[in-house]
Amino acid sequence: MNKYFKMNNGIAIPAIGFGTWQTPDGDIAIQSVEQAIKVGYRHIDTAAIYGNEQSIGSGIKKSGSNRKDLFITSKVWNTERGYDKTLRAFDKTIKDLQLDYLDLYLIHWPATANQFENWERLNTETWKAMEKIYNTGKVHAIGVSNFQPHHLEALLNSATIVPAINQIEFHPGFMQEKCVKYCKEHNILVEAWSPLGTGRMLSNNLLKTIADKYQKSVAQLCIRWILQNGVLPLPKSISPDRIKENFEIFDFEISKEDMQTINNMEYCGGSGLDPDKISF
Ligand code: A2P
Repeated sequence: MNKYFKMNNGIAIPAIGFGTWQTPDGDIAIQSVEQAIKVGYRHIDTAAIYGNEQSIGSGIKKSGSNRKDLFITSKVWNTERGYDKTLRAFDKTIKDLQLDYLDLYLIHWPATANQFENWERLNTETWKAMEKIYNTGKVHAIGVSNFQPHHLEALLNSATIVPAINQIEFHPGFMQEKCVKYCKEHNILVEAWSPLGTGRMLSNNLLKTIADKYQKSVAQLCIRWILQNGVLPLPKSISPDRIKENFEIFDFEISKEDMQTINNMEYCGGSGLDPDKISF
């Protein structure tokens, strides 16, 4: 299993990222990031709306790592859509993270028809700003999050740069097959948020039985299963032991049969967030 994926602009991205959604700001975020880097993660995923960028930045500094060895992602929040606001949001994000550049910047959620009559136009304007930032070199790749094929289709009509990434909810029982297929066909790498179903997968009996066979935890099984599906997992934890555990997924391989069994699982819980229905 390769430890990197390659994005459509040729840049390598570490194959597992450290998720920080719901990681409280302050010492917990700082220590979690330090621990993640210590045990081997080189890819950290945050967002302005998580409210922890300053602490993530402090954790990165405290780790003593070379900036160029790390891959840092953040996202522009929904209230900052549009050309000028996105440019300003990016400046605030890199200032809060205490960085000179980002490796990846994403549109956090698409503007959609349920909230905006001119949703396509709004996404186009936001994307123009993303392209502008990319062309200045202050971000090495740009992408989207929570975009369904119809949102991507509309964006691609006016985009000059194809998004490198689409970060979506992805875990056993919720594989978003149509969206993943569309992304693969358009050379857009899919990242998985909530790879453990925000913890909901951990008590699943079928997953437990399969995990036992490999002497791995259900969390490790889910993370490895995502990788073997060609998707990039972003597990979150604030526990030093679980942060380490979630990175120990390069030393086993799930068989074809077990992959199929997990791929065939029915929906068994998820966030329930649909980009076409959200109200935030
Ligand atoms: P904690 O941060 O206390 O470890 P997801 O990445 O799908 O959003 O899931 C995150 C949730 O799963 C959090 O509640 C996290 O809690 C928990 N979690 C993360 N890794 C593990 C693990 N290896 N074992 C058990 N729970 C985990």
